[in-house]
Amino acid sequence: MNIVLLGAPGAGKGTQAKLLVEAYKIPHISTGDIFRAALSEGTPLGLEAKKYMDAGELVPDQLVIDLMDERLSQEDTAPGFILDGFPRTAAQAVALDEALHASGRVIDVALSIDVDPEVIVKRLSSRRTCADCGRITNVDEGEVCVVCGGKLEQRADDNEATIRNRLSVYAQQTEPLISYYQAKDILVAIDGDRPVETVWADVKAACER
Ligand code: AP5
Repeated sequence: MNIVLLGAPGAGKGTQAKLLVEAYKIPHISTGDIFRAALSEGTPLGLEAKKYMDAGELVPDQLVIDLMDERLSQEDTAPGFILDGFPRTAAQAVALDEALHASGRVIDVALSIDVDPEVIVKRLSSRRTCADCGRITNVDEGEVCVVCGGKLEQRADDNEATIRNRLSVYAQQTEPLISYYQAKDILVAIDGDRPVETVWADVKAACER
């Protein structure tokens, strides 16, 4: 099962991706997570990506496309994968199709998780991530992860001005991909402004249709 997760920043892509990993035992490939890991290791990729991420802008297409060509050529993606945050532009979507075609694969389903932008601003302003186990939660949990005891951190791009720019970049550059996948008849729209378990039931049903 090869899955693309579309949806604005904060729509719940990462949250649903983790549930998909548990259900299907296939890798979750998040370009944002790859860039943040590279940054915490201080690699040239991480430092380059940071310039764009801090402003809520997109990292240049060619850099992302090369990175994902390499990642999707790895053996663990053969049984399937969950793409979270990629593709984000028309050029990335076309490059993805070409790379998959070259290895006899296609995207099976593209899920668009839809949430009102003002709900998103509230969600992201209060989001916290565990520095140790990576669990996504929110500010109500305090400063320590209830699962592993790790430190709960706020992402650098989760401040209101940057969130609003990310939403505007999404509307201009990524939302058109909904039509791209609709034209291939693999797009399923999901209302993401419901409890996580309710959204998950629809995500799972869409993957099993
Ligand atoms: P990335 O890391 O991909 O961030 P994003 O797309 O902005 O998405 P988020 O991770 O913020 O949100 P999410 O949809 O995963 O929501 P989550 O599940 O965490 O990208 C960051 C940056 O990297 C980009 O701005 C860009 O610079 C660069 N980049 C990445 N990919 C790129 C690409 N392909 N090309 C170019 N540049 C790229 O949930 C959010 C919050 O809501 C959490 O607190 C969660 O607990 C809560 N929540 C989730 N679901 C629900 C629900 N149903 N009800 C209530 N709360 C919920």
